Amino acid sequence: MSFLSLKNVSKQYGDSLAVQDFNLNVEKGEFISLLGPSGCGKTTTLNMIAGFEEPTTGTIEISGKDMTYAAPNTRDIGIVFQSYALFPHMTVAENVGFGLEMRRVGKEERRQRVLETLELVRLTQFADRFPKALSGGQRQRVALARAIVIKPQLLLLDEPLSALDAKIRERMQIELRNIQHEVGVTTILVTHDQAEAMAMSDRIAVMNFGRMARLGAPFEIYEQPGDLFTSNFLGSTNMFDGEVSEQAGDVVMVNCSGVELSVQGNAAKGSKITVGVRPEKIALVEAGLGLIDAKIKTRIFMGTRWAYQLESSLGTLDVTLQNAGHEVAGEGVIVGVTWPRHAIRIFAEG
Ligand SMILES: Nc1ncnc2c1ncn2[C@@H]1O[C@H](COP(=O)(O)OP(=O)(O)OP(=O)(O)O)[C@@H](O)[C@H]1O
Ligand SMILES: [Mg+2]
Repeated sequence: MSFLSLKNVSKQYGDSLAVQDFNLNVEKGEFISLLGPSGCGKTTTLNMIAGFEEPTTGTIEISGKDMTYAAPNTRDIGIVFQSYALFPHMTVAENVGFGLEMRRVGKEERRQRVLETLELVRLTQFADRFPKALSGGQRQRVALARAIVIKPQLLLLDEPLSALDAKIRERMQIELRNIQHEVGVTTILVTHDQAEAMAMSDRIAVMNFGRMARLGAPFEIYEQPGDLFTSNFLGSTNMFDGEVSEQAGDVVMVNCSGVELSVQGNAAKGSKITVGVRPEKIALVEAGLGLIDAKIKTRIFMGTRWAYQLESSLGTLDVTLQNAGHEVAGEGVIVGVTWPRHAIRIFAEG
């Protein structure tokens, strides 16, 4: 039995379906991300789990109990909202202790748990400050402390790091993940940031138009996205349309704009398919030594890597190369382009 189960959950607003036929089983202690573009139904799904919205159809079970229509305060859930409004007239310690006071936890235990939690989020020395005297990252940690101090069995986080700049955000991702490991609380994170979902989650549920597009471990769904949407949402992919010219065993030859590409997989001879290869799987070699030649249109230095756009008979190719510390081929140069055969995949057939 899973800790949390969403079974055929749908949510309809008027005649628009915000969430459609959503199924998800979450195990105890797991960290799951709901990842998808704006408007795909992430917050709606989280609100139904929290009890702020009722599903139009379907059921939500927690620990095997039907909680579909249970009141929010009976679900034992800690929440960090996207706009994590702290109480401005309360100190950090009072903000964190508020939920315990509501639950009528005694004064001494309250003091103890607030201290422990502040230590966990590394805010001990800020206990007596007011929110307005904190940085964005520190406020974010107060919001997190407020959610976990009540020791919920389920932690729901809706874009909790969206207000932070890139650097602090990355640090907070690691901290949040460490805290989650330490506390062991089952966690569902809503984000539209694929890097964040990949960095933090045990599994990611990719959502598109209210539906689950893909569910799996980050590496698994990055390497085997299954569909075009997931593939493009998790990083980028060079896509080529072509026709299968030959099939032998589990390898097909695909004619894409006159270029014959060898691809692992099955598709009938004569069928039209789309194949794709990720930018970081492509290597640049000397002209004439690759699968095709291409001309470097742009080369951008990004610190850890080089980002290229090449012109080739396959169309524009995005390529990223790791910066190995030496200058690489520049704009205007003709290069060879190659990739290992396992790196190119079949995406769509028919
Ligand atoms: N109370 C409501 N009444 C009518 N439509 C709603 C309501 N709440 C959400 N919707 C619609 O449901 C869809 C899903 O909304 P939701 O807030 O779940 O998206 P989201 O994935 O969280 O997006 P974002 O990343 O922008 O926060 C949207 O099309 C939205 O307009
Ligand atoms: Mg939202």
